Amino acid sequence: TNTPKAVIVIFGATGDLANRKLYPSIYRLFRNGKLSENFAVVGVARRPLTNEDFRNNVKNSISQFEDDNIDPDKFASHFHYHPFDVQDLSYYQSLNTLLHSLDEKHETEGNRIFYLAMAPNFFGTLAANLKSEGLTSTQGWSRLVIEKPFGHNFKSAQKLNNQIREAFDEDQIYRIDHYLGKEMVQNIEVIRFANAMFEPLWNNQFISNIQITSSEVLGVEDRGRYYESSGALRDMVQNHMLQMMALLAMEPPIKLTPEEIRSEKVKVLRALKPMSVDEVEDYFVRGQYDRGIVDGEEKPGYREGNSVDPDSNTETFVAGKLTINNFRWAGTPIYIRTGKRMQQKSTEIVVQFKDLPMNLYYDKGEAIHPNLLVIHIQPYEGITLHLNAKKGDYGTTSTPISLKYNNNDNNDKMNTPEAYEVLLHDCMRGDSTNFTHWDEVALSWKFVDIISQAWENKKAQFPNYESGSNGPKDSDALLEKDGFHWWSVT
Ligand code: BG6
Repeated sequence: TNTPKAVIVIFGATGDLANRKLYPSIYRLFRNGKLSENFAVVGVARRPLTNEDFRNNVKNSISQFEDDNIDPDKFASHFHYHPFDVQDLSYYQSLNTLLHSLDEKHETEGNRIFYLAMAPNFFGTLAANLKSEGLTSTQGWSRLVIEKPFGHNFKSAQKLNNQIREAFDEDQIYRIDHYLGKEMVQNIEVIRFANAMFEPLWNNQFISNIQITSSEVLGVEDRGRYYESSGALRDMVQNHMLQMMALLAMEPPIKLTPEEIRSEKVKVLRALKPMSVDEVEDYFVRGQYDRGIVDGEEKPGYREGNSVDPDSNTETFVAGKLTINNFRWAGTPIYIRTGKRMQQKSTEIVVQFKDLPMNLYYDKGEAIHPNLLVIHIQPYEGITLHLNAKKGDYGTTSTPISLKYNNNDNNDKMNTPEAYEVLLHDCMRGDSTNFTHWDEVALSWKFVDIISQAWENKKAQFPNYESGSNGPKDSDALLEKDGFHWWSVT
């Protein structure tokens, strides 16, 4: 079989991401036959754990899946632990010895994935030491998987990138944006390029605006320390929101190779109309949640959270209007909106088509509803097409109807692959399509930096939206100025 063989080294092996996402993903890949028997995982972290402790952690994190065909102890026996100090070269040498012995034991042919699931301050040092101590020179391939945040702005991202590029080539670097691993985000491309009825209309002649919303019910919870230095702009817009925008707006690639797709995405990011710092307030709205009632329960405001400045200027909500200056999109805005502590957990894309030149049904009833194509990313996965039709009466009136496709029908969450599972599998196969290239990261930061500059210069009137609401009033006003409104479609 062609299942990939490799040793996966996870830095930050005792952390939240590893336990919550990575071990379950590896398990699911293994269960689904996407991983050969020839794999090993080395967990690396500061804590002095034994192999046995570590294997117990792993078994805990997969205890949700009871599958009689897989013996958890046998699965866990592929996992090994190596205590580690990022600064101390002797640990890299002993890690290398362990990797060599695992290569032999599991016949992984020298293939290595170094997965950095830890605090970003050490990414640079780690990459440099992996190379200097010889961990990246083997018979097989070595790849670096790197989590966000990838820098704090363009400058720091560039510095980080230069550091890791000293040790790894661009095509060995897999920058994670977990939205790109989501089934329905990957579906954007298929919906657009496999349907004769969408692509011809996919432009400013027929589309009046596009709306991308990713709302969360959870607040910042115990991540105050990280979030205070980030905010929704860096946490969600620089990466997930702009990536979804690029997939929606790019030109059809000439083939579905990582290079061709990337080059189209980069072109869209390059076409984003730049703003000056003074213009930011015309295009972007920020918000911060106040107290409010969520699911019948009163929740505290952002400023009351742990490790949060009681006078914090950090935004937990962003809405914005993106203008893409090219022939396809000039004049058709793409609105984005994301926030914490909103009414519902949902990510959705609404494509609103232009009104027809005239309404033949005007005197017979209401205005004709615009056609909408809704791509439901999560938690509901599917597509809805809003049309108009005559419906069960004697006359000829026009009534809104909808066609719905449900991608996770019987709520069979167990079988739709999880984002991390898909991305890990892609990385093992050497397919970088669903990872972000440095050029995309750089352009996204440059765009976002102007906004953060404007917001750092001027203190906001926070808090300005209640927990459990749909964000601040200014977010609605942003669309009303253009004669639109946010569609609420779930
Ligand atoms: C992460 C952000 O990248 O995405 C989190 O750091 C956010 O703040 C999360 O909650 C949202 O991801 P998802 O998959 O739940 O939509």
